[in-house]
Amino acid sequence: SVLSQDALKTLVGLAALKYVVPGEIVGVGTGSTVNKFIDALATMKDQIKGAVSSSEASTERLKALGIPVFDAGEVAELSVYIDGADEIDSHGFMVKGGGAALTREKIVAAQSRRFVCIADASKLVQTLGKFPLPVEVIPMATTRVIRQFAAMGGTAQVRMKNGAPLVTDNGQHIVDVTGLSIVDPLAFESEVNQWPGVVTVGVFAHQKANVCLLGTDEGVKTLT
Ligand code: A5P
Repeated sequence: SVLSQDALKTLVGLAALKYVVPGEIVGVGTGSTVNKFIDALATMKDQIKGAVSSSEASTERLKALGIPVFDAGEVAELSVYIDGADEIDSHGFMVKGGGAALTREKIVAAQSRRFVCIADASKLVQTLGKFPLPVEVIPMATTRVIRQFAAMGGTAQVRMKNGAPLVTDNGQHIVDVTGLSIVDPLAFESEVNQWPGVVTVGVFAHQKANVCLLGTDEGVKTLT
């Protein structure tokens, strides 16, 4: 790649501005790519009502730039939700949660009519599953969930931070699962969602991307 990954993230972050509807509240995701979008959004902050955020980190960044942040529950429906992904396929199915914000991301995505995914070209895959799949789990269920993934051929481990299990914005833990090949993302998401103690699985198939702005050396490619 000629352009750095950081430069590609900046490109798609800027390109996402044209999906923001003036006068409205925009749904904002989490991650290093979204941070570029938030910085770009600050240039049009007087034209929007504000944002609904999917994480404490994004809320902090939005507020620091003077963009009002609303609670998800204060807003009925959003026209557009803009977020990154850890993997995306040609159908718009994604793996998300590398930043541990998957539950709130899925909630805000579900209340949005349109999901615009912004990603550098390295995120585009044929089949989901190479990136370790994040799953938010109630700590009491972790051991059982890890066993259930093992029965599927996956290897799951609890995500750690500073020597202790990482605690999400919702007070839960994350397990990351390797060794899966997710050939039917809709069925996979439905199944894992049924496991007791699973809060959210990082497969976004029922809340897939409607548009993907992919940063490439040839510029931003729009996949629909
Ligand atoms: C956050 O929980 C994730 O779903 C992010 O959307 C994902 O990790 C993308 O992050 P980057 O833009 O930093 O790659």
